[in-house]
Amino acid sequence: MPEKMKNPNAYNPSEQRAIYRVIAERRDMRHFRNDPVAPEVLQRLLNAAHHAPSVGLMQPWRFIRITDIALRKQIYDLVQDERLRTAKAIGEQSQREDEFMRLKVEGIMQCGELLVASLCDHREDHIFGRRTIPEMDLASVCCAIQNLWLAARAEGLGMGWVSMFEPVSLGALLGIPAGAKPVAILCIGHVEAFYQAPMLVEEGWATERPISEMVMENRWKP
Ligand SMILES: Cc1cc2nc3c(=O)[nH]c(=O)nc-3n(C[C@H](O)[C@H](O)[C@H](O)COP(=O)(O)O)c2cc1C
Repeated sequence: MPEKMKNPNAYNPSEQRAIYRVIAERRDMRHFRNDPVAPEVLQRLLNAAHHAPSVGLMQPWRFIRITDIALRKQIYDLVQDERLRTAKAIGEQSQREDEFMRLKVEGIMQCGELLVASLCDHREDHIFGRRTIPEMDLASVCCAIQNLWLAARAEGLGMGWVSMFEPVSLGALLGIPAGAKPVAILCIGHVEAFYQAPMLVEEGWATERPISEMVMENRWKP
């Protein structure tokens, strides 16, 4: 590209490659080594999460760091309960119950750090950007989690997002107030290696669809 057409606001090419690389190589991890995550690294990851955009600058994310091993086991048990209920529902829908039960769907007891991400309480006070689509609060928490996920990958750490739990039960376990809602259990830690493709693809559970099926012009294309 001629010098004068360069976008002065753009990052330099190697920085750009790093951004696209981390996006492409982020994986949802369920296999962890159990060595600890350095506190300063965890702090960087949380800061990355906290830099996320949010509807009306609501910043609805709350993170609870789980350091009590007995509590971690209780969280694990909640996830196992839901895993069984999920397997049953999948069995009723598609007879894939046994196949589902063979999948590893979390690494809660192995990962170095466990966080629970929650929506804050008193969300009804925030109307800006949420009047017609109140779930923009959840979208904002998801932006924060994605930031954390990408930062973790860049730090060489894996993260697994676990959503198989009953929010009311997890909320009760962690003293989360009634107006707030836990939305993710995040397993973070060192890994032997990152999966080359989504683990659900590697295991033959699901296939990815191409971007061409997702992008339309002017009108919804059935
Ligand atoms: C909102 C959300 C919830 C998820 N919940 C779970 C979960 O409970 N258990 C699990 O094994 N993976 C969970 N995942 C991970 C997805 O299965 C994974 O992102 C998907 O298979 C694509 O793989 P990749 O993240 O490695 O690209 C979740 C991902 C998202 C975005």
